Amino acid sequence: MTTATPTELDRTRIKELTLRETETLNERTQKSGEVYEEARKHLAGGVASSYQLREPWPIYMERGAGPLVWDVDGNEMYDFHNGFGSMVQGHANPAIGRAVQERYGMGTHFAAPTEDAIAVGDDLAARWGLPKWRYTNSGSEATMDAIRIARGHTGRDDVVKIFGSYHGHHDTVMVSIGVEYDQIGDHEDMASLPYGAGIPQAIVDQVIAVPFNDAGAMERRLVRMRDEGRLPACVIMEAAMMNLGVVLPEPGYLEEVRRITEEMGVVLIFDEVKTGITIAPGGAVEKFGVKPDLVTLAKALGGGFPVGAIGGTEEVMACVEDGSVYQVGTYNGNPLCMAAARANLEEVMTPDAYATLDRLNDRILEGCTEVIEKHNLPGYAVGIGSKGCVTFSPTKVIDYETFKANQDAELCELAWLFNMNRGIFMTPGREEEWTLSVTHTDEAVDRYVEVFEEMAFELTRP
Ligand SMILES: Cc1ncc(COP(=O)(O)O)c(C=O)c1O
Repeated sequence: MTTATPTELDRTRIKELTLRETETLNERTQKSGEVYEEARKHLAGGVASSYQLREPWPIYMERGAGPLVWDVDGNEMYDFHNGFGSMVQGHANPAIGRAVQERYGMGTHFAAPTEDAIAVGDDLAARWGLPKWRYTNSGSEATMDAIRIARGHTGRDDVVKIFGSYHGHHDTVMVSIGVEYDQIGDHEDMASLPYGAGIPQAIVDQVIAVPFNDAGAMERRLVRMRDEGRLPACVIMEAAMMNLGVVLPEPGYLEEVRRITEEMGVVLIFDEVKTGITIAPGGAVEKFGVKPDLVTLAKALGGGFPVGAIGGTEEVMACVEDGSVYQVGTYNGNPLCMAAARANLEEVMTPDAYATLDRLNDRILEGCTEVIEKHNLPGYAVGIGSKGCVTFSPTKVIDYETFKANQDAELCELAWLFNMNRGIFMTPGREEEWTLSVTHTDEAVDRYVEVFEEMAFELTRP
């Protein structure tokens, strides 16, 4: 972070630029506007998932190749969104295409295991150092099943999560995610709040949220829960938070979380749906050197196909092996998906791939830091592996409270518009980060920095 007092930004100028850039984007995406009129007739809101909604219309995509994507208006963009971090292999990766094509000719679904499923399990076991694996079709299914396994293993119902973390769309984890700052509750006694309508209050009451990066607060809450006779089945968390931009664990935090959960007999789940495959061969477990009882994967595992996975210790996964917990699904381990995942792991996400991602991420982070320092912006660049962001906040964000209190949501919106109008396809919203792919080049990341510089210049010029 810069040490000088950051420039006080002119809020009127931010609003003017936002208006100008919104008009430009609308102008550039007229065809998307037309497609939306058609789409909304029979797709609710014109989209397949509520995270694709956007005013006045979503941007409809046509195709992708390597680091590039094209929308239906023909706008060519470098992809830094990469399917919410799934496409770290780049679009239409030939190795994955070949594997899927070969598999298609041999039949795509039997609801019985294939050899690719075994090979993927072997690879994941080696990467994560966890011996037992199962598959799902999404990150939500992976976290849902992992929590059920923890409940089956411990015979307990309650769940502890980190306030502000997103773990998918099943009821138990749709609690205490994005809420207004004044509803968070006290740091030591955070509120359990449903994320949207349709979440039963009985489920909300089973979920307790604690702040990230504060092992003491977690320990005190677990002790309190134990004293109240409701020790939880598990703590589910991301080792590095990936939905407040990027928030890294402070030194010693994860080790303390591991110690506390182990001592109290609470299953520790690292949700690596975002960090898995993208930040190191063995994800956050490898990067930070702390091993949980269970990990969950999805997104980048399937190379663009819907694959999730749960990995665990012999002890915790015993309840799956003995049949007492049903971990099931017609499409679990689908041969087409397993062929894609195998090619992804064995041929694409190799040690060389991570060296490329690390180098490119260093380059983009350094470039953004230089821009911030040159223009004395209130913010800092932060990242790990293929992921990163500029956090527009005058102080370091370490958890949801510091994020909500300090992050400049208007600047995030403006940065997104600047990117979209200048050939950078970026994740929408103030919570997201970029994901690079192994097909990104120096030119691609330099373009990102150039666009950021252009915005910084316009924001700060007299
Ligand atoms: C950390 C984390 N866990 C779980 C999920 C849910 O994954 P999916 O959208 O594949 O269900 C997400 C999705 O963004 C996520 O970021």
